[in-house]
Amino acid sequence: MIRAWEINKNDCYSVQAQSVASKKTDERREETIENGKGRYSYQATLATAQKVNWRIEDIIGGDKRLDFSKSFMPESLARVEPLDFLSADEMRTLNQIRGAAYLGIFGLVEEFILPFVLDHARPQLQGDDYRVRALLQFAGEEAKHIHLFKRFREEFERGFGHDCAVIGPPEAIAQAVLAHDPLAVALTILHIEWMTQRHYLDSVKDDQSLDPQFKSLLKHHWVEEAQHAKLDTLMVEALAEGRSAHEIEAAVEEYLEIGGLIDAGLKQQVDFDLDAFTRATGRELNEDEKDQYRRAQLQANRWTYLGSAMTHERVLATLGSLGPAARKRVEEVAPAFC
Ligand SMILES: [Fe+2]
Ligand SMILES: [Fe+2]
Repeated sequence: MIRAWEINKNDCYSVQAQSVASKKTDERREETIENGKGRYSYQATLATAQKVNWRIEDIIGGDKRLDFSKSFMPESLARVEPLDFLSADEMRTLNQIRGAAYLGIFGLVEEFILPFVLDHARPQLQGDDYRVRALLQFAGEEAKHIHLFKRFREEFERGFGHDCAVIGPPEAIAQAVLAHDPLAVALTILHIEWMTQRHYLDSVKDDQSLDPQFKSLLKHHWVEEAQHAKLDTLMVEALAEGRSAHEIEAAVEEYLEIGGLIDAGLKQQVDFDLDAFTRATGRELNEDEKDQYRRAQLQANRWTYLGSAMTHERVLATLGSLGPAARKRVEEVAPAFC
């Protein structure tokens, strides 16, 4: 059963923090899957964020190493098994390359989320102290995540022994994304945050075959992103306020344009991953195998970074709260990315 974010109704900060701390993980998960106007608050989100906060040093370094005998990505995102012309070892290598790309792509998207959240906080530093603190906590966590993904990439490169290129540079992508309507950017960030929730809960959490260290990264990222998803919902609501139906529709079109930008990047990433695979395994695929690889992996990347968010119930609920046309438009487009 889905419960409302009930502690929002409680005005006492210390009682809220205690309430959040005493909740079991599954109960906290339930709280993250309920949204809609007025259900989330800066105060409650800040309280949870402070309780679940972690340090990079606690999850990487020392004896915490990647195990290259294991897969890094769940098969539902990697989709390497349909490539039945690959051996089991080659499938695992491709799976790990997809893991390296995941680190790179997440590091890259966090680079436009960070300035956007800071810009959203900056004009209203007076008034709601919880708002300011919740947004600065959000920004601080994204800066930490950028650092975390870089640390994992370094660790990956040391252990893997071959270069794995990633699309970029992050500054150019951030500039292209941030040039859009702020509501379209906020929708893109909402998409990314709920996507992270879906990856962990639907595909990673119960997969015991994954490398524990890579799984730990995804778990720690998920637990902080759960608060970001709520704050993004509030940002979207604030940016949509007072807009006409036509203006909302225009912003949704820009959100889809940003999706197109990401999709173009994914096509490039699929080729980068093939180059890395060839270097790492020494196996040159024939033309027919390359065609199969490109088709399967482009769709796997599309599902990972686009479809899994565009079909997420909470993304669709927020779009629906902006207007039925907004939700319908994304529902029409989404199947191409699943
Ligand atoms: Fe993040
Ligand atoms: Fe985030």
